[in-house]
Amino acid sequence: MSADFDDFKEQVRSSADIVDVISGYVALKKRGHNFWGCCPFHGEKTPSFAVNPEKNMFYCFGCHEGGDVFKFIMKAENCGFLEALKLLANKYNIPIPETHKNAQELAREKQLQEVVATNELAARYFQACLLRTEHGKPALAYLASRGIGQEIIESFSLGFALDSYTALVNNLGRHNCTPAQLVKAGLALTGKNGGIYDKFRRRVMIPIRDIRGRVVGFGGRVLGEGQPKYMNTGETSFFNKRYLLFGLDIARQEVRKTQQVLIVEGYMDAISLHAAGIKNAVASMGTAFAVEQARLLKRMALEVIFCYDSDAAGRRAAVRATTIAREAGLRVRIATVPQGKDPDEYIRQHGREAFLKVIEGAVEGIDFQINETISENNVSNLAGKVETVSNLLPFLLQCKNDIEVVEHIRKLAQRLVIDEGLIMEEYRKAARKRSGQQNMPGLPVPGVRTTTTTVEQQAEELLLAVLLEHPEMAVNCLEIVEKVGFVIQAHQQLFTALVQGNYSEQVNASQLTEHLDDGVASVLAGIMAKQTPAGDAGRMIEDCLRQMQRGFLEKAYEQHCQLAAQYEQAGDARCMSELAESQRIKNEIKKLYSN
Ligand code: UTP
Ligand code: MN
Repeated sequence: MSADFDDFKEQVRSSADIVDVISGYVALKKRGHNFWGCCPFHGEKTPSFAVNPEKNMFYCFGCHEGGDVFKFIMKAENCGFLEALKLLANKYNIPIPETHKNAQELAREKQLQEVVATNELAARYFQACLLRTEHGKPALAYLASRGIGQEIIESFSLGFALDSYTALVNNLGRHNCTPAQLVKAGLALTGKNGGIYDKFRRRVMIPIRDIRGRVVGFGGRVLGEGQPKYMNTGETSFFNKRYLLFGLDIARQEVRKTQQVLIVEGYMDAISLHAAGIKNAVASMGTAFAVEQARLLKRMALEVIFCYDSDAAGRRAAVRATTIAREAGLRVRIATVPQGKDPDEYIRQHGREAFLKVIEGAVEGIDFQINETISENNVSNLAGKVETVSNLLPFLLQCKNDIEVVEHIRKLAQRLVIDEGLIMEEYRKAARKRSGQQNMPGLPVPGVRTTTTTVEQQAEELLLAVLLEHPEMAVNCLEIVEKVGFVIQAHQQLFTALVQGNYSEQVNASQLTEHLDDGVASVLAGIMAKQTPAGDAGRMIEDCLRQMQRGFLEKAYEQHCQLAAQYEQAGDARCMSELAESQRIKNEIKKLYSN
């Protein structure tokens, strides 16, 4: 494959965090070095599926399935390597090299480029209308009345759609945009007579960009009062709000820097916060927070703070959003703006410092969920308490560690005035039930390997484990290995790959995996998942090799003894030479342990 392709593959590999990827399929909990969950590849009730983030491998101690992040996707999605690679590339927004796109992908890409090019022309036209025409004056005044000046207009590329059915269509027509392109971009609508006309009229235009900064759609606000308040680009495969957060292209850097993202509901909230220098704000654009948005954010931040409206609907939305963000592995806090105001109103009235205090006072997501649930139920009677506990279980089950759970249950017991042990019992029941259901249906169940391991096999595994950490020592083993070989074929292949790789430092398991058959990669993952005992590597290697030699020699000894017995019965003279040979082997075994 080309260097270009190798670069691409490496980029995907280094971006795809294996815990993050697998968490999308299996609920994982950290214990020791590994994350653990119930194996998605075979039915099980107790977790024996381990993910090791340092080694970038997964391994199931139950069914012995294992490998790197690509292997996981191939198994989970039942697809080939290239498809798994592309799936991860898309997930992590890594451009796929042209040469590796199929016809369908190329066609889609071309259409997206056209839509983006059309939108970007439109954004420029709208901005010119706002800043450089008489007609733009009322819109400029409106924005100014909301504290939005030149700088923000430029950074968000705000514009104005004229009060006309033809202005945009005609202007973009002159730039060679076809009617079909304008309709596809959602900028024009088709009239009864088959002609097209401008969709957005007399509105402040807010371009919506994807994370790479490409304009994929618009929100258009009426000047002042009027219905509908906003008109947006219609949902298409090119403009899908689940994958977008307004302002993220601008907030991105700050989000990465602070590892924190502030999520508000409205365009105007995000814009206003940026105007006040709060640069990690993005808007969910009034729709429910989606798992795709959570995953997008997980790649660049540790924590999200939802700052939604404080009315009942807003609070319910925050409870649900918290679940989605926690599930994606994000830390969550909820900020409540006082006096029922939205962030834009609040910050313009009370200033930046006051707003920052609101953010500082944000409560933990799960505490918010608990508080909301309690306030929704009548906890003065027993039925209400029972209901509350049962409603809270899903939130408790999301906790990543038991200490946290115990702490929440303790506080909850105090607030509800019921016995801690009872809540704990309910929690345990729910946890058991969940782990029983966790196995994904429809996935292939590989035959469970049931071989018992012999001493030699263990020695082979340990030898490989040590060699993976000290690959430069592999050549020293060649002489003996060539003579006695490995009992397990996969071990032989691993050893060969190690020698051929000529590695000088600890092997990157993922790179090694590429040169291995599927089954061998699983075996490798199995070896890596186990803890290598501490100790002198040279000594361990010697011990293992000795064990392997002994196994080899003992087998040979057995064979010669058997042959000798057969020859003796048949009265064959070769009996003597076989006996002599078996004796020689016996001495060799003794010698193994003499120095
Ligand atoms: P809001 O009504 O809170 O809007 O709706 P806002 O951003 O605070 O706007 P101003 O301050 O009144 O100017 C929140 C978000 O819901 C979506 C928009 O994304 C809006 O920013 N929305 C709202 C629509 O798409 N259409 C609507 O008609 C209303
Ligand atoms: Mn508002």
